[in-house]
Amino acid sequence: MTFQAPKGTFDWLPPRSEQVLAVREALVAPVRRAGYGYVETPVFEDTQLFARGVGESTDIVTKEMYTFPDKAGRSLTLRPEGTASVVRAVLQHGLHTGQLPVKLWYSGSQFRYERAQRGRYRHFWQVGAEALGAEDPALDAELIVLAARGFSSLGLRNVTLLLNSLGDGNCRPAYRAALQEFLRGLDLDDETRARVEINPLRVLDDKRPEVQARLGGAPLVADHLCAACKAYHEEVRALLTAAGVAFEDDPRLVRGLDYYTRTTFEFTHGGLGSQSAIGGGGRYDGLSEMLGGPPLPSVGWALGVDRTFLAMESEGLLGDAAPGRVQVYGVALGDDARRRMFLLVAELREAGVSADMAFGGKGLKGAMKGAGRSGARYALILGERDLAAQAVQVKDLTTAEQTEVPLARVVEVLKGKVQ
Ligand code: HAM
Repeated sequence: MTFQAPKGTFDWLPPRSEQVLAVREALVAPVRRAGYGYVETPVFEDTQLFARGVGESTDIVTKEMYTFPDKAGRSLTLRPEGTASVVRAVLQHGLHTGQLPVKLWYSGSQFRYERAQRGRYRHFWQVGAEALGAEDPALDAELIVLAARGFSSLGLRNVTLLLNSLGDGNCRPAYRAALQEFLRGLDLDDETRARVEINPLRVLDDKRPEVQARLGGAPLVADHLCAACKAYHEEVRALLTAAGVAFEDDPRLVRGLDYYTRTTFEFTHGGLGSQSAIGGGGRYDGLSEMLGGPPLPSVGWALGVDRTFLAMESEGLLGDAAPGRVQVYGVALGDDARRRMFLLVAELREAGVSADMAFGGKGLKGAMKGAGRSGARYALILGERDLAAQAVQVKDLTTAEQTEVPLARVVEVLKGKVQ
């Protein structure tokens, strides 16, 4: 029996894995250019961090966490998202006592026990950016613009930005009560009724058509925003418009995590079917306090790398994944020549030329086949006679032209050719 990757997970293999790395780099390039610093947090955390941070009534916490006791009996959870960990790290190390906002970006695996389907995995990859410790609509707009730039730099066109405000501690309670009153009057199943009592906003996000059909006259948060939230939201909208970032107001956008206040947004892609969100985020002014910290108004997002890759595929943007792994490929015949080639390949790499060689004692034919597959432009052929003459044959694999170069000069010659 051979093993299979667990349900809901998959492997990234070359050459697609190289392409997904490039996608990840492109998505974070704009935030790095905007002065965000890299943060790496543990893949597992105290379970309570997510229970309190993400929210006890969310699907993520109630149904999807990979929670396990460690050998000392602590309850740990594989991170389902990055924001709670970043806030924990900022508070733990006192980063918020320095210059604000603290701007951080991250990249890594997330784990959610979801119903597995195309675009929805149990192990997936996000990049994220968080700006902590400032309440400023320009910061919300900056982050949204940076995410939009990441997507557009990849050539994606079929992306829609949905924008909403969820209000704050001032205006949300009254809205929540109005929504609850409306929802209590509907004919809903028991689980949804329970949700109406715990987190009525999440009911608006219910994807089932029979539930959506009943939500027609539901009160909208946009109609209940206090003056401060309304002004804040208008400023975010104006800044996005000025930056040339198109968006759609979506008064039903609530998102699946409980920590949001004011600005919320999601990027969706038209080529992905039901799992259309390629990124999302928003402001979370109360999260620090929920985790025992001081008030630390903050905003951030996470983008789904796997889904962005699928989105690119659906727009035909990935092209043929060229193997093109190395520039030079060594083919040596005979034991002495092989030893010399082993050193030569190392010298080439030191000199900044990417190089590989035939391994496994292949004959000339097999080794040349390897050279062809490696994507290399040049093959270096070293036989016993070449070695005796302290020379090597440099074959241009695109033209089949072959020249003899002294071994002492070949690194320099190839360096000149590949640059
Ligand atoms: P989220 O909306 O849960 O937000 O996830 C962000 C993105 O991760 C989604 O838009 C999607 O592209 C990707 N994603 C989520 N679940 C899966 C899955 N099961 N399979 C594949 N991709 C997935 C957050 O995680 C928040 N922490 C974002 C944030 C940062 N808010 C403020 N700061």
